[in-house]
Amino acid sequence: MNVFSQVARPSDGAAWITGASGGIGRAVALRLANEGWTVHATARSETNLLSLAAEVTGSGRILPAAGDVTDAARMTQILDDITRTGPLALAILNAGIYTPMRAQNFTAATARKMFDVNLAGVTNALDPILKHMIARKSGHIAVTASVAGYRGLPDAAAYSATKAGLIALCEALAMDLVDLGVRISVINPGFVETEATSVNTFKMPFLMAPDQAANRIVDGLKKPGFEIAFPRRFAVILRTIGLLPNQAYIWVIRKMLGWGK
Ligand SMILES: NC(=O)c1ccc[n+]([C@@H]2O[C@H](COP(=O)([O-])OP(=O)(O)OC[C@H]3O[C@@H](n4cnc5c(N)ncnc54)[C@H](OP(=O)(O)O)[C@@H]3O)[C@@H](O)[C@H]2O)c1
Repeated sequence: MNVFSQVARPSDGAAWITGASGGIGRAVALRLANEGWTVHATARSETNLLSLAAEVTGSGRILPAAGDVTDAARMTQILDDITRTGPLALAILNAGIYTPMRAQNFTAATARKMFDVNLAGVTNALDPILKHMIARKSGHIAVTASVAGYRGLPDAAAYSATKAGLIALCEALAMDLVDLGVRISVINPGFVETEATSVNTFKMPFLMAPDQAANRIVDGLKKPGFEIAFPRRFAVILRTIGLLPNQAYIWVIRKMLGWGK
């Protein structure tokens, strides 16, 4: 069977999601648990994870596994704890931060924070997950990137770089994973109304609620394919504009978002 058609089910093992205490990750964790999954939920705030666990109404459960994704040893420890009781069937590496940064207020320190959480944070969990799933020749890994990773977007100098990096990372890994029985997906959301985007001062086109985003993600994980991108129309528009030559691309995006002086 084509690895991109493999669908992970609760009977295959547990799910692990990072960035589960708020926004998109919280909504995905709840939907999975309500569908019967045992979901190991990671974020730094244990209090928020405990209150999330109490919200499950379906047949599954949420088990808090607090940790910082920038701590590689902690990510390995969480995976070891999960796999002590059974296999990991589904991993959603979703933790990420966004700090708007224009050229005028660019700092290496702010960029570095985003690189550490968004990029290194994903690789810290990927390392033990890949070893576990490749050894079992099964499993599904999904990484939350963004449509901001297709090409550079305004206010997102370092953020777009991290998300473009994640898309490339998943594509490169897929080249090997197709032969190894492990499915990898990249999730590219458009604008979702969460704490992360509450700092945006511009009107966000095609803005979605976290529950809607979670439905797109969980439904997408059950369908064949590599990319889960939504809202569909926004993703297609950005993909199409992204094909323009560089100067035309910069002009159209500035115009579309009312950017500049
Ligand atoms: N919202 C959007 O419009 C949008 C669009 C495209 C892509 N995305 C991506 O979707 C993902 C989720 O975003 P969101 O909008 O849901 O953000 P959010 O509401 O700010 O939630 C971020 C989550 O990540 C956790 N987190 C942050 N830093 C962490 C760290 N160092 N270690 C562990 N967990 C950490 C947070 O919990 P703690 O603070 O408790 O650690 C929280 O659970 C991110 O990767 C983001 O880039 C979002």
